[in-house]
Amino acid sequence: MSLEKILRMVNITKQFGNVQALKGVDFDVGENEVVGLLGDNGAGKSTLVKIIAGFHPPTTGEFYFAGEKVRFLSPQNARKVGIEAVYQESALVDLMSISRNFFLGREPTKFGYLDEKRMDEECVKAVTTIGVRVRSPREKVSVLSGGERQSICIGRALYFQAKLLLFDEPTAALSVKESEYVLKRIKSLKEKGVSAVVVAHNIYHVYSIADRFVILDRGIKIGEFLREDVTVEDIMQVIRTGSAEALEKRKSD
Ligand SMILES: Nc1ncnc2c1ncn2[C@@H]1O[C@H](COP(=O)(O)OP(=O)(O)OP(=O)(O)O)[C@@H](O)[C@H]1O
Ligand SMILES: [Mg+2]
Repeated sequence: MSLEKILRMVNITKQFGNVQALKGVDFDVGENEVVGLLGDNGAGKSTLVKIIAGFHPPTTGEFYFAGEKVRFLSPQNARKVGIEAVYQESALVDLMSISRNFFLGREPTKFGYLDEKRMDEECVKAVTTIGVRVRSPREKVSVLSGGERQSICIGRALYFQAKLLLFDEPTAALSVKESEYVLKRIKSLKEKGVSAVVVAHNIYHVYSIADRFVILDRGIKIGEFLREDVTVEDIMQVIRTGSAEALEKRKSD
């Protein structure tokens, strides 16, 4: 594992009215690393992911991407530097074709018109590369399954050379088979030199693909472990008790 950090967040807090969703969280992601972000409901996982993706600014704290200090005012800002959020529901427009979705907001043009031929060709090529089969790039996204939709998003992120992909509950609405398919695809990102943050309630899913785990509890980071140092049961215990003390003690004994 590389020691280089692609993302480094320092002392991040996030306040929503009276709710302090994040309290002084330090969080980083290495190059070529998959980080599992875990914790109970309301722990602050989605909030942290949304800050990374440029949906929310942090209330305080700063962060660095690829060594540069960044401040995102929108998801477009984040995308521009290579951070893509892959959401099951909202990332694609149902009534548009696969290829239109693929290039949404970044369409190639020719003589001032959409270059649809190129869009179709490149889209099919890109998704085929990651092992997704589409019947036709002109087919509407609404006919795709949850796993296929996410695969299109992953293919799109890779095509536009994203460096960090963010997944918030990628397997929540998927069948067992589809979950496996998506997890496999996330795992294969590493071979392409891409990093990922994965949030999921299903710890087994995260465990099967992550190199490292970060555990939040009510806005506070309570633990951080390399995969080789912990079992699924260890992680569950930390989440259940809201403390990593017992585990840290056991490791130092
Ligand atoms: N836009 C918002 N406005 C107000 N409060 C918010 C907002 N987003 C999140 N919160 C609050 O911040 C806290 C953390 O929420 P967050 O969605 O980050 O948790 P989570 O760890 O993703 O939980 P879950 O596992 O249930 O998805 C919660 O108390 C939530 O109610
Ligand atoms: Mg959430």
